[in-house]
Amino acid sequence: MQRILVVDDAKLNRELLCEMLKDEYMVEIAEDGNEALKKLNLYEEDTAAILLDLQMPNKDGFSVIIEMKRKGWLKKIPILVISSEYATEVENQCFELGVSDFIHKPFEISIVKKRVRNTLELFASRNQLEQKVEEQEKTLREQYEIIRIQEEKLKQAKPFRKLMLEYQAAIMEVETRLKVLYEEFSQEYNRNPFESIKSRLKSPASIYEKLERKGFADTVESIRENLTDVAGVRVICSFPDDIYRLASLLIKQDDIIQVQKKDYIENPKPNGYRSLHLIVEVPIFLSNEKKHMKVEVQFRTIAMDFWASLEHKLKYKKHVSDTGEIEWQLKACADSIEALDYQMQEIRDKIDRSRG
Ligand code: GTP
Ligand code: MG
Repeated sequence: MQRILVVDDAKLNRELLCEMLKDEYMVEIAEDGNEALKKLNLYEEDTAAILLDLQMPNKDGFSVIIEMKRKGWLKKIPILVISSEYATEVENQCFELGVSDFIHKPFEISIVKKRVRNTLELFASRNQLEQKVEEQEKTLREQYEIIRIQEEKLKQAKPFRKLMLEYQAAIMEVETRLKVLYEEFSQEYNRNPFESIKSRLKSPASIYEKLERKGFADTVESIRENLTDVAGVRVICSFPDDIYRLASLLIKQDDIIQVQKKDYIENPKPNGYRSLHLIVEVPIFLSNEKKHMKVEVQFRTIAMDFWASLEHKLKYKKHVSDTGEIEWQLKACADSIEALDYQMQEIRDKIDRSRG
């Protein structure tokens, strides 16, 4: 039930109004302006409307209206003035202050009832409308915020493209160093130190996904500082010893710095994964500057590369059933691959030796 406050110094009026409203509303009573404001302080949020007399001892109706206006309550609580005042200017003044209705005494009960109901309905729909406008404003503000973020990203787009160009240059640099070694080995020792190279630049989507996952800021500086695998070079070798030989020849170059080494050949992952991972820093030369860029270089054998791509599919195709058994089989394959790799290496050594 909605709460209505009846404020009148005349007992008879209070009783009449109370009687008339009590079936539909919870009626509170005040005998003058002071009591009215006291009750409003108690039930402010809960009061649906006020029926207010103007002439009262202590504090009159006008003072109540002015005080409510000052506190901003008139937006939330409609006032229906019930007064024996017939002067137009008084009525006008009331409306100007913000009252919702003005009922003349002596009042007709059924009319007062209807006018209270109308006022409440009007207020409810006005509030609904205001709420809708507020919601729309909120949506607009959110859309504006999205546009602002996109604008910010766009502003960053140029530095981002520049950073990608630098990583691409770093990939080319590492590839060239490896290709030179390839040529030298082919010519001097009649051997190919690796079978192929696969390079990739991490996509913007996976860059931002990784930054988010690891809790890093999504700025160009943050990418440079926190990610080590934006530039990736994978070197596929025929034999395990080629891996270590190539890796050490690369690291030996005096302008390449090894930042990190993970030897998953010596210490395979529990799933059987074997590769040598290096994070290296290589210099790149742009038109007016020299920069050091991080590149992730992975070395693995052909057989292990074949295994890793199958295992990758297992990881990402979640609907594959019987994962436990597949994982066990993959681990067994990885172990067989290791044995095979070293067997092939032994055969190669034997052939080399027999050739004298
Ligand atoms: P990521 O955040 O996934 O890059 O791992 P990390 O930063 O801990 O580096 P780590 O050297 O362990 O792995 C780098 C990359 O090696 C991965 O992004 C994969 O491309 C590859 N890799 C590592 N472990 C596995 C594995 O178990 N299976 C396969 N298929 N690839 C792997
Ligand atoms: Mg990584």
